[in-house]
Amino acid sequence: MPNVPECVITAYPDGPLLVRGAHRIVDVDGNEVEVTQPIVALCRCGHSGQKPWCDSTHKLTRFRDPAHRRRRDSD
Ligand code: FES
Repeated sequence: MPNVPECVITAYPDGPLLVRGAHRIVDVDGNEVEVTQPIVALCRCGHSGQKPWCDSTHKLTRFRDPAHRRRRDSD
C-alpha cells in the first residue's frame, strides 16, 4: 500500500464532520476547495452559508444527528 498521509474524519455530536489531515477536498461539482488549516469542519446539517464549511448555523437550527440521538436514548 502506498504511503498516504493519514486523514481522520470525526463526526462532532450534533455538529460538523471534523477532518484532520485532509490534503484535498472537492465540492459537489468536482472543484477543488483550498484546505488552509490542519483541521477543517465540514457542514453536516446542510444549512451553512459557507458550504462546504461549517459556520455554526447548526446550533441555530438545532441540528440533531439521528444516530447520535438513538445512542443517547439507548443509554
Ligand atoms: S454542521 Fe455546522 S453549519 Fe452545518
